[in-house]
Amino acid sequence: MKGNIVVGQSGGPTAVINSSVAGVYAAAKKIGVNKVYGMVHGIEGFLDDKMIELEDYLAEPTGIELLKRTPSAFLGSCRFKMPKIEGHEDVYEKVFEIMEKHDIECLFYAGGNDSMDTVKMLSDYAAAHGKPQRFMGVPKTIDNDLPVTDHCPGYGSAAKYIATSLKEVIRDNESFGAKKPTICIVEIMGRNAGWLTAAAALAKGDDCSGADAIYLPEKVFDMDAFMAKVKHLAETKSSVVIAVSEGIHIADGRYVCELANENVAVDAFGHKQMSGTAAYLAQKVAEETGLKTRAIELSTLQRSATHLASLTDINEAFQVGYDAVLAAEEGKTGMMITLDRNGDDPYQCGTSAYDIHAIANVERPVPAEWITEDGCGLNDGYEEYARPLIMGELFPVFVNGVPYHLVRK
Ligand code: F6P
Repeated sequence: MKGNIVVGQSGGPTAVINSSVAGVYAAAKKIGVNKVYGMVHGIEGFLDDKMIELEDYLAEPTGIELLKRTPSAFLGSCRFKMPKIEGHEDVYEKVFEIMEKHDIECLFYAGGNDSMDTVKMLSDYAAAHGKPQRFMGVPKTIDNDLPVTDHCPGYGSAAKYIATSLKEVIRDNESFGAKKPTICIVEIMGRNAGWLTAAAALAKGDDCSGADAIYLPEKVFDMDAFMAKVKHLAETKSSVVIAVSEGIHIADGRYVCELANENVAVDAFGHKQMSGTAAYLAQKVAEETGLKTRAIELSTLQRSATHLASLTDINEAFQVGYDAVLAAEEGKTGMMITLDRNGDDPYQCGTSAYDIHAIANVERPVPAEWITEDGCGLNDGYEEYARPLIMGELFPVFVNGVPYHLVRK
């Protein structure tokens, strides 16, 4: 590649999205790219020509090691939807103008479904207008709902945190051994896909009985059946811990969190901001049963816990960034790097590049065959899929007793 490149981060951060930036940088340096720019706050910042040079942070090997141990989006993220091309050509022309100004040959964008839409729109525009610049998607989302790829960088680490936290919550909740159990409800992110909530199943082991029920958005949530389940568990167990997705919804389509608050905020992509599901259910259970309840919303913690990231996930996040650069070097554009599982025992995974049109804006749900018949559990098929993704650890660099991070100046 003769020119420079730029990399951006978009959408909800993950514990390992910075490893993908490290991978892009490492590959670019390996093939002799001159400058590697980083967009500050994704395409939104890029449109304002806001960039840094990664060389300033990553030239020393310690920079890359620290970046891998830094949560959130080091470059800054955004939730910016590219407008439809017709009538908004100026926005697209601006992107190409800035690319030309900085001699940027290829743009790499790390993100989920919505961010892959940006890659699609820009590569389509380039193709339609004879522009030589290339655009590559780097997969990232804790939601694990991108199609084609076996899994998404960010998922394994969030799943590891969720499984660990659930196990610790179960340990705590069972410590009292009371005749009347505390009903603990844990709310997990993931919007309309239950992959993250499913990770609650990974808490189970020979030292832990696991979550008592797991409710995914793939199944319509039945309040009466839920209450009956809770009452049964309360009669038979001294501790009850239930995992629910933030995206569970009742038969008429309303999210459970909307039952408590009708005025839910909406982002640029029309996604409702979901929160309060566990609190709503815990209150309802308390009212109906008189039992002590507790609501825990894992919220941001589950996507920012780099101190407990999966090493497998860190390495794969690095790899997809690295391989995106190699694919662009081969002349590819309008594609996203996918993770392709080649084996489970031992776990093996390679990568390839896939047409962005089959990926952007498509959500992949948890397969129905992994959800138990009663609709509130996961079977072994899920565990075989997910367990390898949470394996391994990378110890943070501790300074003054807390992990040290790489930050933009
Ligand atoms: O896209 C990932 C995600 O973490 C979802 O699981 C969650 O619903 C959403 O982001 C939250 O977005 P925000 O941080 O913008 O509220």
